[in-house]
Amino acid sequence: MTQKMGLREFIDDLQAKGYTVGGSKQEDPVLLMPDGKAVETWKEGYPYDELMPREEYDEEKYRLQVELLKFQYWAQDERRKFVVLFEGRDAAGKGGTIKRFTEHLNPRGARVVALNKPTDREAGQWHFQRYVQHLPTDGEIVLFDRSWYNRAGVERVMGFCSDEEYEVFMDQAPKLERLLSESGVHVTKLWFSVTQQEQRTRFAIRQLDPVRRWKLSPMDLESLDKWEAYTAAKEEMFERTDTKHARWTTVRSNDKKRARVNALRFFLDQFDYEGKDTGVVHAPDKKIVGRGKKTVG
Ligand code: ADP
Ligand code: AMP
Ligand code: MLT
Repeated sequence: MTQKMGLREFIDDLQAKGYTVGGSKQEDPVLLMPDGKAVETWKEGYPYDELMPREEYDEEKYRLQVELLKFQYWAQDERRKFVVLFEGRDAAGKGGTIKRFTEHLNPRGARVVALNKPTDREAGQWHFQRYVQHLPTDGEIVLFDRSWYNRAGVERVMGFCSDEEYEVFMDQAPKLERLLSESGVHVTKLWFSVTQQEQRTRFAIRQLDPVRRWKLSPMDLESLDKWEAYTAAKEEMFERTDTKHARWTTVRSNDKKRARVNALRFFLDQFDYEGKDTGVVHAPDKKIVGRGKKTVG
């Protein structure tokens, strides 16, 4: 409880000291120190000294989105089914990446599923039930903004499920994903990783910027002082649910632009769709996209 006050106090303190939010309306926001310099917490443990320049990002994103459309036509022609799970800590950039995935896709054939916390009725059902309803049909790609893995993360850490429910989940998740794979549903599991200082900065931005304040949830406020518990939950999840049918792929996201471009590229590079431009779609940056439980954040 006192720790929960920690984030509030931290943010109030920043406000009192004159920290503000900068960046243009379209641009990703930055936290500015009282002297107007940007807070650079993104550099924490990050393999680059500079953020991806805006122009490079715009160009790359555009070319990748063109490829994503070719992929979509192919998926529809071939009647394939795709699921992409977007996971990661609060403020890791899941939603922002999903937005760039869907920006130019034909909404007929691409859906985002972002479920609320379970209702009483849903809480009484089989954990996967409410997600299964949203699985794709032929030619569809479904993007899950958080997923059944809530049980391995927030529910585990916040105590919203029992130990037994957790164990059942950890046993069943790989089985379900195997069934999906065997039934022609391709599953991509992405983990967006953000470091602790950068997560704080993003929470501060949410609080200080009126148009983002709604994003700062009670769960966010709790999550800061549960950093280690979330780390342990993440590692166990990678340990027990990374299978050959559905691997976990990590995306370092302290630089949101680099993360989005590399997530798009990684996703597309998995497939041999018609008309693929290998000048645009190739292996992603190894410093950004990886596998395994050692990932920071
Ligand atoms: P988000 O980060 O998706 O904007 P929150 O930070 O508010 O949302 O919550 C994180 C996740 O925890 C959400 O998927 C939400 O549905 C889930 N959640 C919140 N409260 C509960 C609860 N009581 N039981 C189960 N899941 C919950
Ligand atoms: P320090 O590095 O602790 O000396 O912090 C210098 C200033 O940056 C202090 O005013 C801190 O409140 C602020 N600060 C430290 N970490 C963060 C952060 N993650 N986000 C925003 N401000 C921060
Ligand atoms: C998150 O990752 O918590 C959200 O999707 C918000 C964001 O895009 O940063």
